Formats: sequence, structure tokens, C-alpha cells
Amino acid sequence: MQFRVLYVLIYASTFKSAIQTQELYAPNITDLTFKNTDFALNLYRKISSHHDNNIFFSPLSVSTAFASLSLGAKGATLSQILSGLNLDTLAKNGPPELVPQLFSQLQGNTTQNKALRLEQGTALFVDQRFQVERAFSDQIMKYFDADIENVDFGQPEISKETINKHVKKKTGDKIKEMVTSIDPLTQIMLISTIFFQGAWEHPFDSNLTRNSRFYVDKYNIVQVPMMFVMDKFYIASDDELRAKVLRLPYLGGASMLIVLPDSHADYTTIDDEINAARFQSWIKNMEKIKVEVHLPKFKMEHVYSMHKILPALGIENVFKNTANLTGISQEVGLKVSEVLHKALIEVDERGTVAAAATTVGIMGYSMPFTFIVDRPFFFLIYHEATNSLLFMGRVIDPTK
Ligand SMILES: *[C@@H]1O[C@H](CO)[C@@H](O)[C@H](O)[C@H]1NC(C)=O
Ligand SMILES: *[C@@H]1O[C@H](CO)[C@@H](O)[C@H](O)[C@H]1NC(C)=O
Ligand SMILES: *[C@@H]1O[C@H](CO)[C@@H](O)[C@H](O)[C@H]1NC(C)=O
Ligand SMILES: *[C@@H]1O[C@H](CO)[C@@H](O)[C@H](O)[C@H]1NC(C)=O
Repeated sequence: MQFRVLYVLIYASTFKSAIQTQELYAPNITDLTFKNTDFALNLYRKISSHHDNNIFFSPLSVSTAFASLSLGAKGATLSQILSGLNLDTLAKNGPPELVPQLFSQLQGNTTQNKALRLEQGTALFVDQRFQVERAFSDQIMKYFDADIENVDFGQPEISKETINKHVKKKTGDKIKEMVTSIDPLTQIMLISTIFFQGAWEHPFDSNLTRNSRFYVDKYNIVQVPMMFVMDKFYIASDDELRAKVLRLPYLGGASMLIVLPDSHADYTTIDDEINAARFQSWIKNMEKIKVEVHLPKFKMEHVYSMHKILPALGIENVFKNTANLTGISQEVGLKVSEVLHKALIEVDERGTVAAAATTVGIMGYSMPFTFIVDRPFFFLIYHEATNSLLFMGRVIDPTK
């Protein structure tokens, strides 16, 4: 039997740093983001168990892509996607459209603020010979505002160009060549993009950036451009985890959390211990004090083959010949062959938007707290109003 192939491409781009409800049957986006956070951290742990390098990805982009795919999945394929995304109990508490509805609301909420550029998009490229179920294309359009376009995958060069053009536009020209080659047997390509551009509320002073030491491990020390800012920031100390947490706000309702293990602590223990409850407790228990921040300037670009990682979270059927994607098309043998996730980030002094007016002069306190990020650290970029985790990463060596 010849099996049809379905590619899911997910990529994220960011640059320049830039529970159960009381009402039994009414989970809301607070519940969704809590579940999404646990999924994000589960996924993070799987990625980090594969290697000990820098990591950067957008959990929201991955869960959004699979939530849209779930609209066409049935039987075991559907239940594996929902439980892999950590959404099974939530889905059980509502009508079938609950999960896509909540994602749709969340997308509306996270893209509300004008000061922050946060754009999420879903697109479906379908081979012109291929019959997609009307209900699926209607729903994916309704809940995910997806663009649906016919292409001729039999002409790989032309379809590649169409897709790369779409991605380039959606990522503000940052990802220029998402697809390098196309298998002419491809039937469907599902693309989920997320683009974030944030300007620091308290920009670093580029005149004060200095080359400085970063201790990768006991044996490796690298020189990095270390940025400096002194201002009032929210900070928390997690004594159990032996780490300090600093919140660096962007203009417009998002923040970066830096999680810095104490110098004698082993960062791999943090890998195992972060979960949604912990993340929320940090945010809740932060205190605003004057802090001297030393943070490396860094840039990362990563591509992940999620089809190799997601089976470890129980999402495996969708990649196999037994996949049930009959909601997308009645043709037998449709499965997902590849899930690519591409993410990039650039963190520097200002962010991309000219962040001018908010510079605060140095205040007359003595003895500010110093937060020196000169060893491996974690960071999470989240949307404040919804507590939604947009991106997360780990920096072991900022020069890599
Ligand atoms: C969601 O429901 C919970 C519990 O009912 C409530 O505390 C929370 O404020 C709600 N969130 C939103 C965004 O409505
Ligand atoms: C897909 O799942 C539906 C609903 O569970 C079932 O009726 C159908 O037979 C399944 N199709 C395939 C090809 O597995
Ligand atoms: C999300 O948006 C809806 C309306 O679009 C609003 O009622 C709700 O309060 C928002 N929730 C959050 C957490 O911002
Ligand atoms: C950096 O130094 C230049 C030249 O001395 C000065 O014009 C500029 O205002 C300084 N920038 C900041 C952010 O202080």
C-alpha cells in the first residue's frame, strides 16, 4: 500500500529581546495556559534529555499546530494528541470544540497589545490533486484563522517558493528559507508560525556592554558581550531549587524570566523540577527591588525534528501507518511524516523598537542586588495577562 505523506512544519521566530475550574464544565483560557505550560516543560525535558547544548523553541507554536491537526484526527490518534498536549482532562470537560475555541481565544488575547509584536499564524498548503474534507478546512479557518492554499507539490521548486515566501512574510523576513526541498509525494503541509518582537521596558545601556567571562562549566570559560542595566526589577529566590529568578519586562505585556541556578547548583536538577505550578509560584512571589543586571547578549537559531521527540510524550500514532486522520481526508494511509520546528532569537540591549522614553536614571540607593548571569541559565518568555509561555530556552554557551 502506498502511504500518503503529510508534513507539519512548525517554526517560531523571535528576535531582539527583544487547574481545574470551579464550574465543572467551563474550562477557560487560564486552564488552557496552565496545561500548555506543563506540556511546554514536558517537551523541554524531552529536548534537553537529547543533548546538553543551548535550547530554544516555542511550545505554544507546537501545541497550536497539533491542536489544529487534532481537528482532523480521530480515535486513538486524537486521544494521543490530546493527552500528549496534556489537554485530555480539559477536553473531557467540554464540548468537542472546546479546545480549538480556547486556542482561538488565547490567540486573540496574546495578540491584543499594540506595543508588542506577537503574531501567530497557521497555514495549510494542500496539493491540488488532493481532496480535503470541507469540515476540516472550515474549522481550521474558523478557530485558527488559517490560510489555506492549493499548491502543486508535483512541482517541488514552485511549491517550495510559495511556502518559503509565506513563511518569510509571516516571520518579518527573519526565516528566509524554511523548506529546502520538497518531496513530490507531499499531500499537505501544515505550517504554524509565531513571531515576536519585543523592546525592553528598561533597555540596557549599550555604552556599558563589556566583554566578560562566562563560565560554561568547570573547564570552559568564554568571553561574551555582557550587557548592563540597573533598575527596579521583580526578583524571586527559589531556595529549594537553589536558583534565583529575575523578570525583565518588555513593553506591551510580555516578560522574560531568567532562571539562574546558584553557582554551586547543578543546572540539570532544574531541568527535572520546573513545572507549571512552580512557574506560577515564581510569578506570584516576586518582589520588586533595585537590581544590577549583567546579562550576555546572545543569538540562537535552532531546528528540531519534533517527530523524533513527540513520541516520547505519547504522540506516536499520528506518525505511523495506523494514523487516523480521516477528518482531514478520507484517503487511507494519511499520516504525518515530519514535524520541523524552527526558532530563532536575538537578545540585545534595546529590543527592536526604539525604546527611548522609558530610560530611568540611576537611583540613589546604595548596595543594589546584583544578578550576574555568567553561567548556564534558563529563560522563559511569557505573555503576562494569560500567563502563556511563548518561548523557552536554555543557554549553556552564549557564543555557540
Ligand atoms: C478561569 O476560571 C477560573 C476559575 O473559575 C478563574 O479563577 C479565572 O479567573 C478564569 N480566567 C479567565 C481568564 O476568565
Ligand atoms: C477512525 O476513527 C473513527 C472514529 O473512531 C472510526 O470510525 C474509523 O473507522 C477510523 N478509521 C480508520 C481508518 O482507522
Ligand atoms: C481575553 O479576551 C477576552 C475577549 O476577547 C476577554 O474577555 C478576556 O478578559 C481576555 N482574557 C485575558 C486573560 O486577557
Ligand atoms: C552612549 O554614549 C554616547 C557617546 O558618549 C552618547 O551620545 C549616548 O547618549 C550614550 N548612550 C546611552 C544610552 O547613554
